[in-house]
Amino acid sequence: MFAAATQLVVLLVVLSSCRGRRDDFIDEGIEEIALQSSKFGSLWPLPQNVQISAVSFKLARDTFQIFDAKLSTAGPSCSLLQNAYRRYYEYFFGGVKKTWPLKDEWTDSAGLMGLQVLITDPEPGCEQYPSVTADESYQLFVDQPFAVLKAPKVWGALHGLETFSQLVYEDEFGAKNVNLTSISDFPRFAHRGILLDTSRHFLPVKVILANLETMAMNKFNVFHWHIVDDPSFPYLSRKFPQLSQKGAYHPYTHVYTPADVKMIIEFARLRGIRVIPEFDTPGHTQSWGKGQSDLLTPCFAGSKPSGSFGPVNPILNTTYDFMSQLFQEISIVFPDAYVHLGGDEVDFTCWKSNPDIQRFMEQQGFGQDYGKLESFYIQRLLDIVASTKKGYMIWQEVFDNGVKLKADTLIHVWKGTQQQYQNEMAKVTSSGYQTLLSTPWYLNRIAYGQDWQGHYKADPQDFQGTDEQKKLVIGGEACLWGEYVDATNLTPRLWPRASAVAERLWSAKTVTDISDAYNRLSVHRCRMVERGIPAEPLFSSYCPYEYKGI
Ligand SMILES: *[C@@H]1O[C@H](CO)[C@@H](O)[C@H](O)[C@H]1NC(C)=O
Ligand SMILES: *[C@@H]1O[C@H](CO)[C@@H](O)[C@H](O)[C@H]1NC(C)=O
Repeated sequence: MFAAATQLVVLLVVLSSCRGRRDDFIDEGIEEIALQSSKFGSLWPLPQNVQISAVSFKLARDTFQIFDAKLSTAGPSCSLLQNAYRRYYEYFFGGVKKTWPLKDEWTDSAGLMGLQVLITDPEPGCEQYPSVTADESYQLFVDQPFAVLKAPKVWGALHGLETFSQLVYEDEFGAKNVNLTSISDFPRFAHRGILLDTSRHFLPVKVILANLETMAMNKFNVFHWHIVDDPSFPYLSRKFPQLSQKGAYHPYTHVYTPADVKMIIEFARLRGIRVIPEFDTPGHTQSWGKGQSDLLTPCFAGSKPSGSFGPVNPILNTTYDFMSQLFQEISIVFPDAYVHLGGDEVDFTCWKSNPDIQRFMEQQGFGQDYGKLESFYIQRLLDIVASTKKGYMIWQEVFDNGVKLKADTLIHVWKGTQQQYQNEMAKVTSSGYQTLLSTPWYLNRIAYGQDWQGHYKADPQDFQGTDEQKKLVIGGEACLWGEYVDATNLTPRLWPRASAVAERLWSAKTVTDISDAYNRLSVHRCRMVERGIPAEPLFSSYCPYEYKGI
């Protein structure tokens, strides 16, 4: 009894000293901001041009319709849009069903009857896959009796539906309102991606789909699927089933079957999201070696094989036969015009230890420059992939090592300090290559406090270069590497921190007001929560509809 009381006192002392020290933890350079309402409501990412007036209309749940305009080139047969109408109807009115207020109140004359969707391009895109050149622009006019959403292609219409859903808010009586509004919008960058890593931990399909849905809420349009790596090979290949049979964490429960992959690609397409798979070689391939013998380089200890293996063996013809067949399959399974070929962090130690490789280096006249051997491999791989008619993305090392690249190669910058990545962006673009940035957006790195502000402030066009060079920056990707991430913590770690990147990549360069961003992002985060996404809080606050667990 006495002991318990003492413990309680100690506990109280500890608690109160923790409370008092809260401010010590706030990182330098991070602003603490008071929550206010923004003149842009809860729009996120902020559209290019917005005017919201103080005139508001009510939406009637029972009679409100989303429908195709008579002149729209996408009719009822456009299942992509019909699908989106159903999804967004739910979002407009919230998942939360109410029995009040009374219906009379909603159906007064000052109500908004519906949303009319007008697609203007003769090729609306209903059956197509989104691409880097896709037109994502739209215009939205909210006025009585119907709001009008106008877009050349379905991709813009999808973004416009999301934007409309963000204009809808609940008044004190629980009725849904929207203000008289005019918006004209388009993305600043064409490539706005999220990288998820399904090798270090297997991510269930359900989690991937939930994040695609959340990506659409944030107008991201590329899912960079880092599908295989050293720890596991969950991609079930039709041609080489032994790769996942032996290389996945489990051959049946921890694999992506052809049907899973198909479902993910279609789910993404319906939300205007491209799926770019990454099959990283010649490094990061330990799991490949389990199902494909002779693919990896045997490492030597002195004059004997040590029993361990290094990167892909670049001196065997069988390596290239294998890669040809695998990438042939990949090019068919993944419809996007690009694949990511990795090429990062190749460790030369094992290559150096292997006498066959040493002999090959001599024959080729590479001296001791193992970068040349890497280039030799990558060059041949690029030819293989080019023959499948795909374009490719590669991590910056491939460019740094001087590998000859096709003119349309995308160089993915991920290394270094701010100064270093800005120099790299300048170097890559002055060589005439298109590029995208990830260095400041490694969201797997976490820090106490509002680290989203740092992500928000980074800008991929901030480097020394001409306008011509700046135009070669096609966007960026937020990366969530999987060492410490699986289905238990993926979503709250990613959102709303990735939302900061989303606005940087979509909105105008001049949109940099941190307090306005905080005000909008706080409400946007609550909206994600209301939609069932466990997005973590920015700071002390509450949401009208809190997350209720799974
Ligand atoms: C929408 O209209 C209401 C009611 O007039 C007003 O209080 C609110 O500030 C408006 N919202 C925005 C974002 O302008
Ligand atoms: C590998 O292929 C090249 C070119 O096709 C050929 O000249 C060479 O003999 C082959 N090497 C082996 C070991 O089969």
